[in-house]
Amino acid sequence: MIMIYFVACYSTNLQEDPLSSIVVNSPYINDGGIFKDFLMQSTDHVLSLKSKLGDTSPSSMKTFNVDQYGAQGDGKTDDTKAFKKVWQVACSSKGSVVVLAQKNYLVKPITFSGPCKSKSIVVQISGSLVASDNPSDYKQDPTHWLMFDSVQKLSVKGGGTIHGNGNIWWQNSCKTNKKLPCKEAPTALTLYKCNNLVVEDLNVKNGQQIHVQFQNSANVRVSGLTVTAPEDSPNTDGIHVTNTQNIQISNSIIGTGDDCISIVNGTKNLKATDITCGPGHGISIGSLGEGGSKEFVSGITVNGAKLSRTTNGVRIKTWQGGSGSASNIKFQNIQMENVTNPIIIDQNYCDQQSPCQKQKSAVQIRNVLYQNIKGTSASDVAMQFNCSQNFPCQGILLQNIGLELEGGGEAKASCNNVKLSYRGNVSPSCNYIEEMHELGGFGKTHSMN
Ligand SMILES: *[C@@H]1O[C@H](CO)[C@@H](O)[C@H](O)[C@H]1NC(C)=O
Ligand SMILES: *[C@@H]1O[C@H](CO)[C@@H](O)[C@H](O)[C@H]1NC(C)=O
Ligand SMILES: *[C@@H]1O[C@H](CO)[C@@H](O)[C@H](O)[C@H]1NC(C)=O
Repeated sequence: MIMIYFVACYSTNLQEDPLSSIVVNSPYINDGGIFKDFLMQSTDHVLSLKSKLGDTSPSSMKTFNVDQYGAQGDGKTDDTKAFKKVWQVACSSKGSVVVLAQKNYLVKPITFSGPCKSKSIVVQISGSLVASDNPSDYKQDPTHWLMFDSVQKLSVKGGGTIHGNGNIWWQNSCKTNKKLPCKEAPTALTLYKCNNLVVEDLNVKNGQQIHVQFQNSANVRVSGLTVTAPEDSPNTDGIHVTNTQNIQISNSIIGTGDDCISIVNGTKNLKATDITCGPGHGISIGSLGEGGSKEFVSGITVNGAKLSRTTNGVRIKTWQGGSGSASNIKFQNIQMENVTNPIIIDQNYCDQQSPCQKQKSAVQIRNVLYQNIKGTSASDVAMQFNCSQNFPCQGILLQNIGLELEGGGEAKASCNNVKLSYRGNVSPSCNYIEEMHELGGFGKTHSMN
């Protein structure tokens, strides 16, 4: 038994400097071993979706081509009706089906609804879907363009392009023109209540607002996405995850005007690996707690990411006055290149025109590991923990951090109301870290007062 434990322990990448010892010894982490177990979990655990989806190679499936349902595919004719028809037929067929879209199609907002009779559905986009950019086409539901609703065992893939044609929405955003009222714009692709879902090998560009949103779904595998929009396009998050459990995002390249990946309320067990971000606002947990809401996020791993020229690297952001928690989070093996705030926790997040009032309650941030994070900062402060006075950030672990100023020079850390521990070389550091090292790396609350 002891041998087995020993081997298991040493097979993880924490072998040189077991963090579990900090977790065991830290007076701030007493959650009955949950965080320790989470730290020891391997990240290359792949969701066993293959067996759930069955054989989804087109040859074994019934094929429906949207062109045979009246689509012109000339990029000018409205092909919405043909998509509705082909979906209706495919969704009510028995067995496994594939829907082909091989040309360029102009489409208005459309919802592909389930549940379907089909056992599994592949939507193979090898051409492109281009959004209508006439806002009056979106009157019925101004917040969605393409949506899959309650479709199980769905794969959306094919190497093609989903083109949001977002220019007109960007121009009419209150973030672009402060005189205009703030209105929501459509999300380009929404996957809502889809379990056992694969989204892979697609280009998504120029979204009206969010590019790809996973909402109320479970068992999701996302890979090979390329998401692009101009750096100054407002609120164009790359991948947005809300209330979704067991989701793996890998091998994707995202450069937009907002968050690369944003992870919000109800998300549990998310793993992101091999992610390239920039430009944009970086990888973000939150915002959480807006308008006094109670929100929860847990079990988040980002392992293997490169962020270039983003405004944030890895960020957790919460509003004052909320409650709930963001807990058990790992940021590992991340390279920063000229990132303005490479490591940041902001519990005073305020994204509104009027200033936010000071409030007592906060979303609790607990158990966050930052490990092997290297590179350069565009600002003086490369590491910032701006935590709540009443709910200090707890169980923050830092291991092997090396961030310096872009172009050379020492960067700084700003640490308020944070209980942290560290291992290995950590630079920059809150100014008491040398002392903590002598004491064996145990944390304490650091406060400005
Ligand atoms: C947050 O997510 C939980 C779990 O899904 C849900 O019950 C709750 O209503 C959500 N909170 C808000 C403010 O949406
Ligand atoms: C780094 O980023 C800053 C601010 O975004 C920019 O002004 C500067 O030109 C960048 N430097 C390099 C070398 O890319
Ligand atoms: C903390 O965040 C608030 C709001 O973003 C900001 O005004 C304040 O300057 C920050 N504090 C530090 C020490 O950075």
